[in-house]
Amino acid sequence: MTSLDKPEREKLPWWEPVFGSEEKDLLEQVIDSTFLNDGRIVKRLESELADMLECAHVIAVTSGTAAIYLSLKALGIGINDEVIVPAMTYIATANAVSMTGARVKLVDVSPESLCIDVNRIKEAVNSRTKAIIPVHISGRGANMKKIMALAGEKNLVVIEDAAEALKSRHQGKYLGTWGHTGCFSLSPFKAITSGQGGFITTNSDTLHQKLRKLKNQGLLGPATGGADFHEEIGFNFKYTDLQAAVSLGQLHDLERRLKRMRQIYDLYHQQLKDCPQVRLPACQPQEVQLWTDMLVEDRRGLAQFLGEQGIDCRPFWYPIHDEPPYQVDRAVQHFPISSKIAYQALWLPSA
Ligand SMILES: Cc1ncc(COP(=O)(O)O)c(C=O)c1O
Repeated sequence: MTSLDKPEREKLPWWEPVFGSEEKDLLEQVIDSTFLNDGRIVKRLESELADMLECAHVIAVTSGTAAIYLSLKALGIGINDEVIVPAMTYIATANAVSMTGARVKLVDVSPESLCIDVNRIKEAVNSRTKAIIPVHISGRGANMKKIMALAGEKNLVVIEDAAEALKSRHQGKYLGTWGHTGCFSLSPFKAITSGQGGFITTNSDTLHQKLRKLKNQGLLGPATGGADFHEEIGFNFKYTDLQAAVSLGQLHDLERRLKRMRQIYDLYHQQLKDCPQVRLPACQPQEVQLWTDMLVEDRRGLAQFLGEQGIDCRPFWYPIHDEPPYQVDRAVQHFPISSKIAYQALWLPSA
């Protein structure tokens, strides 16, 4: 066995990407073409994703974090603005807001879905609030109908963090296509992955153009890297044909993967329904659960027990208000649901 071969499996992993021959064929084609940058294969991926998610535009970028940052930037959010973020999410959601110079305003989550609580959003809105970022935890949708109605009423923009919700439908519509933009991740623990990567969905032609310029040094079309006329400030958040080759192969296998994810969901929910020590948050019909989250009083004890049986699991993130950059004045702000649930939750093997 060479050092690159797969080691003998010692543990049931909590997540595992699966690659097929199409990824390898497409990678070979890209390498043979000698064009590895953001080109033909990225365009193809964007177009297939837009068709699949029934939205007007998809813009591929370097990561899910970049997708959120660029969305905020395209929507004009920055210093002196406040952006509402759930207290229970991956820290990337909050960090993308901080990157713009805006302030993160945390809001507690609902105990049922573990997604942002709409009633608490109302209390958090003030004159500086510009945007809401609902996060669809493990593929379960935040209450998008109510969030969109509230945003309309208060004149706020909505950027969905759909990093964990690819092809999950909620109230009749794909998650990530409700808001002004939807942000997806292609990092290793997602339904499809290219190692790193992400993409943005939008139905707005104006936002689409802004996002394309922001991701490529202010240019709408392809760059020569030489005498290009740059009308606006932009950056380099380009995705590459090398990465898109892997994502495209993965995308073509997505239905099989989603079917398996549904089977895993059914199995856990059937087998554990009579176990009073644990609670599994439920998906709505048409939602697809990416990872199986479980709430249990003695999380440490369960993780240790599973580890001894050769079963891997992953504890939930710390709530954002317990992370050093976002610690809040606890005398003023409380997030009782996130403070409790984040320390009870873990993800069971889900691949
Ligand atoms: C909820 C959530 N938001 C944002 C991200 C950030 O995505 P990325 O790691 O691609 O930057 C992730 C995943 O990593 C995530 O799970």
